[in-house]
Amino acid sequence: MKGILLAGGSGTRLYPSTLATSKQLLAVYDKPLVYHPLSVLMLAGIREILVISTPSSIPALQSLLGDGSHLGLTITYAEQQAPRGIAEALIIGEKHIGNDPFALILGDNVFHGAGFPRILRAARDGLDGCALFGYPVSDPERYGIGETDAEGNLVSLEEKPVNPRSSNAITGLYFYSPDAVEIARQLTPSERGELEITDVNLAYLKQGRARLIRLGRGFTWLDAGTHDSLLAASQYVHVIETRQGVRVACVEEIALRMGYIDAENCHRLGTRMQNSEYGQYLIQVAQMAA
Ligand code: G1P
Repeated sequence: MKGILLAGGSGTRLYPSTLATSKQLLAVYDKPLVYHPLSVLMLAGIREILVISTPSSIPALQSLLGDGSHLGLTITYAEQQAPRGIAEALIIGEKHIGNDPFALILGDNVFHGAGFPRILRAARDGLDGCALFGYPVSDPERYGIGETDAEGNLVSLEEKPVNPRSSNAITGLYFYSPDAVEIARQLTPSERGELEITDVNLAYLKQGRARLIRLGRGFTWLDAGTHDSLLAASQYVHVIETRQGVRVACVEEIALRMGYIDAENCHRLGTRMQNSEYGQYLIQVAQMAA
């Protein structure tokens, strides 16, 4: 399975913080925001990842993530010239996707919860069409919304409805069959001039090939696209990390635990950052694994 991480957009809702850098490089407490979606792809067992971003943001993302080899990944980059919608990522990523199923994740989405790797594996297994991840929110009009019947089957999908039919938000993580690229190609832009990802999902819903996986109450999903939500994400990560002494979305630790790198490499990555607590943590994790 391939991965696409969409780190585009101009982050105007975060101005002036994003005047000179991209949203995905801003810190969520102790690490860049982009580590969160990257860690989700890694936990799904995905190692070939295309990062799509604006021409001006790619150099900085590249200097942070490189070619991914330090994490046992292959990371490549592609440009989205203008904010023409999330679904355009599928067209930009066509070559990368080839004939493989793939996961698309938005660069500002933070997921955290016990058993997530198992949920991701289950979504991969037997994927035909799309697998979407639903999460209950108190402000459904801000999101893509999925309505389900009594059996939990998806019956409708709407993008930012004025009168939402349910409070079940469709999160920014999508698993697709390779034919999603063809569906994206046939879309017409919405009123706001964008290729909407909800329209791709609607096409699958019409074909009876859209599945909704509900992330329950014990799970955390945040999108960090505004000052308030970025702060909320930082506070959340801070509380968990200081209470438990473990790090959330620590990509080096995940690479070690997934067997993508060995303890020696993890130790080396920690040594490079040993003046920070994050670096110290990596050294500790590597020592325990050695
Ligand atoms: C996008 C999608 C929306 C989804 C959300 C998740 O909205 O269009 O369906 O619920 O991401 O983060 P945006 O945040 O781009 O407005």
